[in-house]
Amino acid sequence: MSSSARITLAPERAIGTVDPRLFGSFIEHLGRAIYGGIYEPDHATATPQGFRQDVLDLVREIDVPIVRYPGGNFVSGYDWEDGVGPRDQRPRRLDLAWKTLEPNLVGTDDFIDWCRAANSAPMLAVNLGTRGIDAARNLLEYCNFPGGTLWSDKRKANGYANPHGVKVWCLGNEMDGPWQIGAKTADEYGRLAHETAKVMKWVDPSIELVACGSSNRSMKSYAAWEATVLEHTYTHVDYLSLHTYYGNLAEDTPNFLAKSIDMDRFISEVVSICDYVGSKLRSKKRIDLSFDEWNVWFHSRAADRERTERTPWEIAPPLLEDIYTMEDALLVGAMVITLLRHADRVKMACMAQLVNVIAPIMTETGGAAWRQTIFYPYLHGSRYGRGVALDVGVESPTYDDATFDAVPYLEAVATWDEANASITLFAVNRDLESALPLEGDLRAFPGYVVVEHTTLTHSDLKATNSAAHPDNVTPRANGDAQVSDGELTAILPPASWNVIRLARKQNT
Ligand code: AHR
Repeated sequence: MSSSARITLAPERAIGTVDPRLFGSFIEHLGRAIYGGIYEPDHATATPQGFRQDVLDLVREIDVPIVRYPGGNFVSGYDWEDGVGPRDQRPRRLDLAWKTLEPNLVGTDDFIDWCRAANSAPMLAVNLGTRGIDAARNLLEYCNFPGGTLWSDKRKANGYANPHGVKVWCLGNEMDGPWQIGAKTADEYGRLAHETAKVMKWVDPSIELVACGSSNRSMKSYAAWEATVLEHTYTHVDYLSLHTYYGNLAEDTPNFLAKSIDMDRFISEVVSICDYVGSKLRSKKRIDLSFDEWNVWFHSRAADRERTERTPWEIAPPLLEDIYTMEDALLVGAMVITLLRHADRVKMACMAQLVNVIAPIMTETGGAAWRQTIFYPYLHGSRYGRGVALDVGVESPTYDDATFDAVPYLEAVATWDEANASITLFAVNRDLESALPLEGDLRAFPGYVVVEHTTLTHSDLKATNSAAHPDNVTPRANGDAQVSDGELTAILPPASWNVIRLARKQNT
């Protein structure tokens, strides 16, 4: 057993209120995310609108507050007009982003319907790759204007009398990336995003806008890109985006599990850049962060490259179908903790993606739907990561890593839901060999007792779930956390994700 780790739970350690949109997700026209994922009219569970009810049930289980759509790289070549109106009149198009064929059987209206069924809000991205201000303002008019104009009346004619009321809009996607259709320099993008944002807010001043930050922290133009884009857009945008994906190609699991530290630094740096530009512009306004793509992504990359070269222009081929392991769930847990630890500035985040494509939910087209390993930390964060995030002041033994130096075995954060007198502690033990004894000072929360200590572990770090074995990696309420005399104690199993839920006893 390792030496123990220590935390302190106290209201004065509040970081900020958790925006529920921190547990959003993302669905792109990519692979089987849409076709065979959320939409499959011939499936045994299909709703009258053609949506898979088994998938909707799993999405509702997570309680996903907001879903980004339609891309991703796809949006930079997308003509949104292709996806509305009678299905049999919608065109097939080449999707150059993923070298597939897009049948347009699902489009904006259908996605909004799906969101309503999933109990999620839509977050739409506009195409700033091949298109610009005009397509963006028309799409917004189509979605949000009540009626009496060309585009709002087209929506009505398509069967949607009431406006969709889409509140959050992304100004393009990863426009710094050379892989992007219509990639731009920071000045080119900044100018276009500024003008598009200005005009979109003229159409509907109630919307919130997200400008593209760098595609990831390793981009050569990182930081300079953020500063330049913000200098152009500061007055009209509300959020700046961050994206990151991690993998364990080197088969170095201790290093892999420490990669949430990179995410943590990324967030802190982007907050600094936002505030630097705000100061430079003498602005009273604060730009917050939208971490609208994050996940583990590496298992499928080589096979996908090979497939799209061998057989381009397929409809809904199985792309980016990472099969997630126990160790992937641990890093996703650490990433959930990292997002919560920045709840003061990260107001929205989207696990990328939701179904089949680097996703917590997998399906067989025509068959079953099941929960991948990463489903669980995401589910727990979304269900219990509500209220105020608390910095728990982790004191932990560490291990050495060439990239991250001294890595704490314990990664942890708590949320306090004052109205419901409940606290949830989220914790990862990165120690692959040993259990980690945890001690917590709980004196600031008198009367709180442990309701449940859930753990996610497996003897094999490479264990996965599948249609045949959907519950191979599954959480169990078998932890030993307890409270005595204002002290929380628990043993965190080796390589484990832990959710310790506390509540105030009724009579205290
Ligand atoms: O989520 C998969 C892809 O990753 C998205 O299309 C793109 O934005 C990012 O590079």
